[in-house]
Amino acid sequence: MEIHNKFPFKLKPGEVIGQGAESIVRSLGEDWAIKETNPSDLTRHPKEESLLEYQKSPKHLENAAADYRLVQGLLGNLVPPTYFVYGVCSDGERGGMIIQRKFEDPTSNERIQAIITSSSTPGLEIKAENADALLHIQGVREIVNLYRKDLLKLLWASKLCFQVLGIPLDLHTRNVLANQNAILLDLGSLHDLQQASGSSEINLRVKARKSIEERISSIRLWETILEVGPGELEAFNSGENQYAAESFEKQVARFRQQDRN
Ligand SMILES: Nc1ncnc2c1ncn2[C@@H]1O[C@H](COP(=O)(O)OP(=O)(O)O)[C@@H](O)[C@H]1O
Ligand SMILES: [Mg+2]
Repeated sequence: MEIHNKFPFKLKPGEVIGQGAESIVRSLGEDWAIKETNPSDLTRHPKEESLLEYQKSPKHLENAAADYRLVQGLLGNLVPPTYFVYGVCSDGERGGMIIQRKFEDPTSNERIQAIITSSSTPGLEIKAENADALLHIQGVREIVNLYRKDLLKLLWASKLCFQVLGIPLDLHTRNVLANQNAILLDLGSLHDLQQASGSSEINLRVKARKSIEERISSIRLWETILEVGPGELEAFNSGENQYAAESFEKQVARFRQQDRN
């Protein structure tokens, strides 16, 4: 992997346009977003040194690039053009930089976020059992109907990733931006999680397994919200990418079995 000894772009990163557990996202000119390692966690506390060091490593970036190759192959235009660059970041330290096509339209993003954050109905838990109530949040059903086909495809890809890698996508709605299409902005560290879930370090393993459980719950939530009918997901199957409906529950059972071993 090429290592850049100075910040590799002529443009300087602009305003912060988003943050997640891994990245701090800024605009890079008019059309692009740059994602660099977020030194803080979601509660704005500094990350543990070992985690930060890993997230700034070439290995972490290589894993993110491998996620992109896999998921882009499944989702095509629902994944934005993305490039992976390693070297001196805008803070002067070495780390990975992810350059991604920038999207506007925060309003639809906020509306789609209502599905998981349920900010308009505090206390409503984001669980499949509450799908009906979630759909009654203003604007949610409308957006679900508008983007149903794309959301079904994301769900199909998530199940396929679970089948292929043992890790579902992170279909957290902050990772999905509703624009002309429902675009997946964040591929959910699939390869990192796969490695962590098989790690000999118990803490890593437990954390990875918790994330996988959360993603399984999110699959169930989307399934209920989208009222997926028989054969609807399989309709996206093509070439080697064959998702088999009956294997999802088996897969979940197998995953939980491993947990006990
Ligand atoms: N390409 C993009 N265009 C516009 N906003 C983005 C883009 N990518 C990410 N964001 C914003 O930044 C937030 C965090 O980005 P994300 O890639 O999910 O980082 P993390 O991996 O840390 O979760 C997103 O929830 C979204 O609001
Ligand atoms: Mg994210």
